[in-house]
Amino acid sequence: MSKTRAQPPARSELDPIEVASRDEIQALQLQRLKWSIRHAYDHVAVYRAKCDQAGVHPGDLTSLSDLARFPFTVKDDLRASYPFKHFAVPMSDVVRIHASSGTTGKPTVMGYTAKDIDVWSEMMARSIRAAGGRRTDLIHVAYGYGLFTGGLGAHYGGERLGATVIPMSGGQTERQVQMIRDLEPGIIMVTPSYLLVIADEMERQGLDPRASSLRIGILGAEPWTETMRQEIEARLDLDAIDIYGLSEVMGPGVAQECLETKDGLHVWEDHFYPEIIDPTTGAVLAEGEPGELVFTSLSKEATPVIRYRTRDLTRLLPGTARSMRRMAKITGRSDDMLIIRGANVFPTQIEELILKDARLAPVYLIEVRRDRRLDEITVQVELKPGLNDESAPVNAAVDLTRAIRAYVGVSAEVRVMPENAIPRSAGKAKRVNDLRVKE
Ligand code: DLL
Repeated sequence: MSKTRAQPPARSELDPIEVASRDEIQALQLQRLKWSIRHAYDHVAVYRAKCDQAGVHPGDLTSLSDLARFPFTVKDDLRASYPFKHFAVPMSDVVRIHASSGTTGKPTVMGYTAKDIDVWSEMMARSIRAAGGRRTDLIHVAYGYGLFTGGLGAHYGGERLGATVIPMSGGQTERQVQMIRDLEPGIIMVTPSYLLVIADEMERQGLDPRASSLRIGILGAEPWTETMRQEIEARLDLDAIDIYGLSEVMGPGVAQECLETKDGLHVWEDHFYPEIIDPTTGAVLAEGEPGELVFTSLSKEATPVIRYRTRDLTRLLPGTARSMRRMAKITGRSDDMLIIRGANVFPTQIEELILKDARLAPVYLIEVRRDRRLDEITVQVELKPGLNDESAPVNAAVDLTRAIRAYVGVSAEVRVMPENAIPRSAGKAKRVNDLRVKE
């Protein structure tokens, strides 16, 4: 029995701004940008000090390109104002707090007014709709609930769309499978890596992942490649659609891929103004050029961000299914880039090579060590379950070592491990273990 394919929304179902002319979008952006810069300057001491130091004033912004004169904000600025000094409204107007996981140092704490939650819900409803979701859908939310923005962001968006939300959160994989089997949701919102863990668990329970009710996966919160999309779609017989966001800018729903094109993520430009900069010089780059993504919030009340450097690497592209510009799939984060004996290595490059090998499972961990002052990388990867070929581990290791040398330009040690040897995560997958002593 084959599933009915998800259908994109009709043009009449879209918000008019999604298909407005570029002139209309830019006019709205300029009007909102003026407000946002003024709001941040007037109410957040750190922004005011930064602007004063750079010799710019909100009144200097008369066109969108004037934004380039304003100073950047980085994660450390938000950490330095921990927990609330970057809030632009009194706490009595803040109805929600989220915080980034903060694996290193202090977390960043962001606030939301009732209007901020309203805009976020709208953007998430728009995102789910762009992925093919409708009010008649059941949505299984397996992003974590809590300080992480994934769970609650997806939840409010699903409800705003009028759909039925199943607030599973992450973890309890057996139970995830039971709920999918029994409640038959059409949509799952989850990290791509955890969706594969759920598919493994379906198989362990004797269920065919392709036969589940799931028709749409709205997947994000971690980098994943085009090849990973193909793997997921083939394994679960669903449309795998990319969703992007970050807690400092709002949460999920800053940008979203459309079901009909699957060609990168439309930035919801009526609320977030994107720029691509050269990560070294800070210069704004032209459309199409790869660099670091920077966002300025256009409507956020509680914690506005001005030129926030995301560290995510991508390119801006013209609109297709919507008038708003797209960002290409994220290739990685500048802080995830490994420099191995002078060569730049992104985990996603290694992911592409692993997924091309039919003997290997889409699970991997890259370890970096410093041995006698030289950086060494080890790639741990698992064999696909049920492979009855004794020579597969050795041959796959030789082939992957060769491919990494040829395509990535580094010598890696490849360890092909048995099934389930690499730890799984119920949220964002950990792909890199950097054991080099930080100087
Ligand atoms: O991960 C928000 C989110 C939740 C997005 C659910 C999508 C779905 P943070 O924990 O603040 O917020 O992490 C943000 O995750 O700067 C990227 O490096 C990465 N990231 C998020 N979405 C994608 C994606 C959430 N689609 C950081 N592709 C961002 C690649 C992504 N990386």
